[in-house]
Amino acid sequence: MLKDKVAIVTGASRGIGKSIAINFARQGSKVVLNYRSDDNGAETTKQEIEQNGGVAILHKGDVSDFYVAEELMNFCKEKFSRIDILVNNAGITRDALVMRMKEEDFDSVINVNLKGSFNCAKHASSIMLRQKSGKIINISSVIGIIGNAGQVNYAASKAGIIGMTKSLAKELGSRGINVNAIAPGFIETDMTDVLGDNVKETILSHIPLKKMGKTEDVSNLAVFLASNMSDYITGQVITVDGGMVM
Ligand code: NAI
Repeated sequence: MLKDKVAIVTGASRGIGKSIAINFARQGSKVVLNYRSDDNGAETTKQEIEQNGGVAILHKGDVSDFYVAEELMNFCKEKFSRIDILVNNAGITRDALVMRMKEEDFDSVINVNLKGSFNCAKHASSIMLRQKSGKIINISSVIGIIGNAGQVNYAASKAGIIGMTKSLAKELGSRGINVNAIAPGFIETDMTDVLGDNVKETILSHIPLKKMGKTEDVSNLAVFLASNMSDYITGQVITVDGGMVM
């Protein structure tokens, strides 16, 4: 479905980003694997792709830095001469109730999740505009739709991503660029591993399908949104959440 495409996946050293990168490569895309600090994780993702005959290169850098994001896009353009797909996946949490949330907890989550997505979309879109084609996929969260106690910073960043997705879709649609968001629910990754059993049980009680999602559940949708199968879909927020939010 992605034969000869060129994709950038931010935060590809583990979890959902890793699954998206591997799934894209399996569908024929060359992939730039961005990550911030986990050299081993990123190298493992690269090796898994190469063992299956795919092409992947690593890019280490913090997407919350405007100039690093620009450098990431230029790196991809130099290596593969184009950017067909950008997945803004890199994300962090710094959970606390608002009374206890420190200013830096708010700032760091907004900087990585929201500003990082803006930085990458801005610099990628200038290349995509010249190509007159491209797909941008932003990883939001159901928490950006319904909110969550203890996640004021995270919910604001993910709701911001939804507003940004719709605005970008309106700005870039006439130039052949589709922009959509995926809002995952409760997916099995290191990010959700840290939650206690009580919290997990409470969340599961609100999920009609009565199970957590797998990273592949998210990456399968990302493949569809990155492919020509979704050419008439833009500005949408699609949940992958076992029916949690409807
Ligand atoms: P994770 O914590 O397992 O992986 C996050 C990835 O982002 C890592 O590769 C990390 O190196 C990278 N990263 C973090 N800060 C970065 C930065 N400044 N620059 C570049 N890379 C950076 O997280 P997970 O669970 O795989 O989540 C991926 C995305 O999906 C995040 O945006 C998260 O908010 C979102 N999401 C996850 C859900 C879940 O249940 N796991 C649910 C809803 C959304």
